[in-house]
Amino acid sequence: MIGDRKILFSGMQATGNLTLGNYLGALKNWVALSEEYECYYAVVDLHSITVRQDPAELRKRARALLTLYIAAGIDPEKSILYYQSHVSGHAELAWILNCFTYMGELNRMTQFKDKAAKHQDNINAGLFTYPVLMAADILLYQADVVPVGVDQMQHLELTRNLAERFNAVYGDVFTVPEAYIGKVGAKIMSLQDPSKKMSKSDENPNASIYLMDDPDTIRRKCKRAVTDSEGEIRYRDEQPGLKNLIDIYSACTGKGPDEVVNAFAGRGYGEFKEAVGDAVVAVLQPLQERFRELEKDKAAIDAVIRNNAERANATAIKTLRKVQKKVGFPERVRG
Ligand code: TYM
Repeated sequence: MIGDRKILFSGMQATGNLTLGNYLGALKNWVALSEEYECYYAVVDLHSITVRQDPAELRKRARALLTLYIAAGIDPEKSILYYQSHVSGHAELAWILNCFTYMGELNRMTQFKDKAAKHQDNINAGLFTYPVLMAADILLYQADVVPVGVDQMQHLELTRNLAERFNAVYGDVFTVPEAYIGKVGAKIMSLQDPSKKMSKSDENPNASIYLMDDPDTIRRKCKRAVTDSEGEIRYRDEQPGLKNLIDIYSACTGKGPDEVVNAFAGRGYGEFKEAVGDAVVAVLQPLQERFRELEKDKAAIDAVIRNNAERANATAIKTLRKVQKKVGFPERVRG
């Protein structure tokens, strides 16, 4: 709590091309919630190096992601937008929390299992302890709420368990955070295989809509989306491809799934897919235009990077010092 405002933390990786899933599942909610909460939004570059990165490319993507946060509508004067690597408290708290996390807990993390299967030549310790760093991100700012997509729920549960475990030993040190999952768009699925989530690491470019895709590409990908042979527009698990398209349309237009089904009753899939393409373009085109404008103003982005890291650090250090004292590290001697 800062004054009478609750605290919100969230982050995103600057790895690969961001997808519509990242936008509808997370970024869109970040913007909506930023009026109500005291917000910290990090570009989580420490997390990114759990998978091998090209340094120049990572730097470029990190800056683009920070710019995209602003383009999406987050005000850098009100919310704190920064790079995780600019606040050393993340790594320091992660180390301490590592010593409170059990191997068994981390072994159960489905994202670790998936990523380990995908990167068999580089199953590094960072990939294994990745969720602990995520817990440190959140707990460092005493966040009350964490808006994420469904795929991050298991990591959020671990964060809550770690906070409670630590508090049980040392008293009320950490706020135990709640996940915020949006009503629609919290799990956008692949357009080519609706049993999988839409992911920036998918090899098939038609499976994902990327935030920087041009309008023709977006419309084409929607048109090619895998559906079924039932031929009737309904919102149900038995028609997962169509359900996903309804979710996308719904999240882009603000209309509820039932309203969408009623509006398109009796019409063909082709027509609906066109409408989905139009709805996505209507959301992404202005976002892309704002992004291109903002990107040009290098000095303004540099100022955001500088000021916000300082603001984040000022909060982070308070929690970190408290935790260091609780676990028994010697106090710093001044003067
Ligand atoms: P990341 O970078 O994979 O994804 C960023 C956000 O996008 C959401 N998301 C989706 N939502 C709906 N449908 C999808 N297909 C979809 N794909 C991704 C994710 O749930 C996430 O909210 N570990 C995190 C980053 C992180 C973090 C944190 C998040 C690091 N520290 C602290 C919250 C709090 C990650 O890799 O997200």
